[in-house]
Amino acid sequence: MKKDFLTVNDFTKEELLDIINLSIAIKKSIKNGYKPPLMKGMTLGMIFQQSSTRTRCSFETAMEDMGGHAQYLGPGMIQLGGHETIEDTGRVLSGLMDIVMARVIAHKTVADLANACTIPVINAMSDYTHPTQAIADVITMMENLPAGKRFEDCKVVFCGDFTQVAASLGFICTKLGAHYVYYGPQGNPKTQQFTENHKKIFEENCKVSGGTWLVTDKEEDVKGADFFYTDVWYGLYEAELSKEERTEIFKKYQVNRELMDKGALGCKFLHCLPCTRGEDVTDEVADSASSLCWEEAWNRLTAMRG
Ligand code: CP
Repeated sequence: MKKDFLTVNDFTKEELLDIINLSIAIKKSIKNGYKPPLMKGMTLGMIFQQSSTRTRCSFETAMEDMGGHAQYLGPGMIQLGGHETIEDTGRVLSGLMDIVMARVIAHKTVADLANACTIPVINAMSDYTHPTQAIADVITMMENLPAGKRFEDCKVVFCGDFTQVAASLGFICTKLGAHYVYYGPQGNPKTQQFTENHKKIFEENCKVSGGTWLVTDKEEDVKGADFFYTDVWYGLYEAELSKEERTEIFKKYQVNRELMDKGALGCKFLHCLPCTRGEDVTDEVADSASSLCWEEAWNRLTAMRG
C-alpha cells in the first residue's frame, strides 16, 4: 500500500526518527563522497501553486543526488482543479511518475490529490502544515543540542503568528516528546489561530510521547528556552495584514536580543525563512552566532533526501 506524507501526524515517533536518522546517514554518506542511488530511474513531480526557493531547490537537488529526476510543475503550468478535476489529474500523474510533491494553498487540495493518486504524495506546504520543514527543523536542532540534553529534554518556543510552520513544529515536538511553547497573540480574528484541532493533536501526541505543550502570551513562559523559532507575520492567507497592522499585533513577539537573553544559556534561533528582517527577527539575531536559520535552510536538502 502506498504511504503519503501530508502531516507529521501520519507517522509514529519511531517512523519519524527513522526518516530523521536516514536523512542524517545520507548526508554523512554524501559528505564522504558516496551518493546512494536510492531514487535511480524514478521521477518526482513537483507541483507548486506558490513560489518557493528552499522547497523547490532542495527537492530537485535531492532527486539528482540520489539518481532520480524531478519535473518542476510551477504555478499555472498544469491542470489542478478547474478545467480538469484533481481526481483526473491524480490518476494521470500516477501513470507518468513515481512520486508527487505539492505546495498548495488549501490543504484540501493536497489531501484530495493524495486520495486521487496511486503513487505517494508529499505535502510541500499547505495552509495547514509544512511537514518536510519540520523534519529539517528537528535535524537542525538535533545537530545543535545543548550540552548533555536529548531533544526530548529541550524547550522549543515558537514566537509570533501561528502559521502552518508553527503548527508543524508543534506537531513534531509533541510527537517526539519535546516541550513546545507557542508564544503569540490569542483570539485576534486577523491572525492565524491555534484551534481545537491543534489542541486535540498536541494532547494525543503528548499522551504517547511524554512531551508537553503550552499556548501563551506571557513573556515569563519563554524563560529557559533552548530554541526560539519564528516565521513571518502575515495574518490570514486570504487577508494579509498591512505592515502597520502586523507590527501593532506582533511587535511584542519579535525575536531580538532581549528575548534571546530570556532563553537558556547558549540558546539558539531558528527560522523557516524567508524572514522579514526588522520585523519577526532583528538583523543582529538572524546573523548572530546563535542563529541556525542558514544551517536549517541547507538541512531542507538533508530532509528531502530522507
Ligand atoms: N521555508 C520554505 O518553505 O521556503 P520556500 O517558501 O522558499 O520554499
